[in-house]
Amino acid sequence: MSKPAKRIAISGAAGQIAYSLLFRIANGDLLGKDQPVILQLLDLPQAQAAVKGVVMELEDCAFELLQDIIITDDPKIAFKDIDYALLVGARPRSKGMERKDLLSANAEIFTVQGRALNEMASRNVKILVVGNPANTNAYIAMKSAPDLPQKNFTSMMRLDHNRALAQLAAQSKQPIAEIEKVIVWGNHSPTMYPDFRFATVKGASLQQMLNDEAWNRTVFIPTVAQRGTAVIEARGLSSAASAANAAIDHMRDWALGSNGRWVTMGIPSNGAYGIPEGLLYGFPVTTANGDYTVVSDLEIDTFSRERMDLALQELLEEQNGVKHLLG
Ligand code: NAI
Repeated sequence: MSKPAKRIAISGAAGQIAYSLLFRIANGDLLGKDQPVILQLLDLPQAQAAVKGVVMELEDCAFELLQDIIITDDPKIAFKDIDYALLVGARPRSKGMERKDLLSANAEIFTVQGRALNEMASRNVKILVVGNPANTNAYIAMKSAPDLPQKNFTSMMRLDHNRALAQLAAQSKQPIAEIEKVIVWGNHSPTMYPDFRFATVKGASLQQMLNDEAWNRTVFIPTVAQRGTAVIEARGLSSAASAANAAIDHMRDWALGSNGRWVTMGIPSNGAYGIPEGLLYGFPVTTANGDYTVVSDLEIDTFSRERMDLALQELLEEQNGVKHLLG
């Protein structure tokens, strides 16, 4: 007998990330080839026709695992009884819009969605916020959902993690599968701190293998931090398939386990590494049995502390900037 279907909500369903994400989820890339799914698709009223078009294409793939699809512009309908939420839809920055206005516009969206999750979702729901500013949007949703465990709210740092892995593999000429223990601390923004001080290749130190601190500081860190901008410049559009892939990696590892590998997740801090409790920040974690655990007791040197604090300051400013909107 096949398993009962899992309900997965995706917001921003008419957008470009969703155009890659939905098909991969329906194909079993997220929860496995034996797990039926029901997709609950949320987008704005003016995007409903486009969502219907995407749904026609999903139907035309004849995915065997796709049991049902719900389309709505109401977060309460989208989040009813869901096991997973991938919150991709967000308000983009328009021309002339200040950061403060962008934060407020998104605070409004994620307050409403947090409340709807609080009311409608499974108590074990796993939530990933992709829409930017992802860490602060996740923080807002978490603060708006007091009846759900805080640990259920996460933000996407996995694209940054995967970008770091790819750069390290290229520089060291080692296969990606052999590289472990890479971290991206902080915020999904140019203040992020990609850190390979603990990384290994087949158990040996990658830092010693590369032995090039200048490359780390002047090439690696800025390349990873500016990769999103470089993709926009080349493609004319922001990263979409790679963002969808990272969202799948994040959720799959959280749900099914990372088998001892370190992965980066934006999570509410437990106070580790001097990051104030409850702040949504990128940490190295391992995942097992549907839970994540922060990799603890890593040594933080002076340079790393400075970089980690830079991201912390930015996140504190963002999260303080929306506090008054949270009641
Ligand atoms: P897009 O503009 O193609 O699609 C966004 C969709 O969200 C649109 O269909 C829009 O109607 C919908 N939307 C807007 N407000 C909504 C709301 N309140 N409820 C439901 N749906 C809503 O954008 P794209 O390329 O799919 O990117 C989505 C978000 O992901 C952006 O905020 C982008 O900055 C972010 N992103 C985050 C990354 C990360 O690593 N954390 C990486 C890449 C993108």
